[in-house]
Amino acid sequence: MKTFAFLASAALGAAVLAGCAGDQQTASAAAGNPFATPSFRGIVQHDFADKGQAKVSRLKQTQAQYECSKYDYLGKPMPEALAKSLEAKAQAAVVYPADGKYLGDWKAGLKIAENGKGMQWSDKPGTPNGGNCLACHHVIANDPSQGNIGPDLYHYAKLRGSSEAMLKYTWARIYDSGAFNACSYMPPFGAHKILTQQQLKDVMALLMDPHSPVNQ
Ligand code: HEC
Repeated sequence: MKTFAFLASAALGAAVLAGCAGDQQTASAAAGNPFATPSFRGIVQHDFADKGQAKVSRLKQTQAQYECSKYDYLGKPMPEALAKSLEAKAQAAVVYPADGKYLGDWKAGLKIAENGKGMQWSDKPGTPNGGNCLACHHVIANDPSQGNIGPDLYHYAKLRGSSEAMLKYTWARIYDSGAFNACSYMPPFGAHKILTQQQLKDVMALLMDPHSPVNQ
C-alpha cells in the first residue's frame, strides 16, 4: 500500500524527488540535487519496487518537474527565463489532432472527466484511463463532489466561444498544461499519454459542444 501511494503521487508529478529510482543515470542526476539526501535516496532505492505496470522508473522526473521541485524546495521563485524556456519546450511538443478535428463525443467526454481510475499497479495494462477532471474542476451543474484546485470550467465555451484559437488553446492546455505554466498542477494528459487522442477529443467536446451539460 505504501508503495502504491508513493507511485501514485509521483505519477502526478507532485513528489519532491529527483532521480531516486536507483539506476546509475538517475543516481547521478540526484547527485547535484540539493534536496535528495542520501538517506532519502536510500529509502527509495530499498523500499520501493516495480509492481504491475507501476514501475519505479515513474519516479524519474522530467526537466520541468525537477526544476519546479527544486525552486519549491529552495523557497525561491523560478527565474522567469527558465520558466519561459520550459513552457516553450512543452508548447513545441504539443501534438494537435492529425485530422484537424478537435471535437469528439461529449457523452464519452463526461465519463472520462468523471473517471479517476487508471495507471495503477492493479489495473490491466491497456485499459483506458480516466481524466479525473471533476476532482480538480467545477465542470457541470448539480454535482457537489467537484474540486476547486483548478479554475471553474462550467459554461466554458458559452463564456469564451469556440473559435479556432480557443480550440487550439484548450487542446494544448489539456495536452500539456506545462506549456502555459511550467509548474502547473494539472496532469499533462497528452504528453504523458494518460489519455488517447480520441479521449482528448471527447473531453474537448465536453467543454466545447453547445449540447454538452457544461454549456447548458
Ligand atoms: C490535479 C488537478 C487537475 C486535474 C485532474 C485537471 N486539471 Fe485542469 N487545471 C488544473 C489547474 C490547477 C489549472 C490552472 C492552470 C495551471 O495552474 O496551470 C487547470 C487549468 C485547466 C484549463 C485552462 C482553464 C483556463 O481558464 O484557461 C482547462 C481547459 C482544463 N484545466 C481542463 C481540464 C480537463 C479537461 C481535465 C480532465 C481531462 C483537467 N483539466 C484535469 C488542475 C487540474
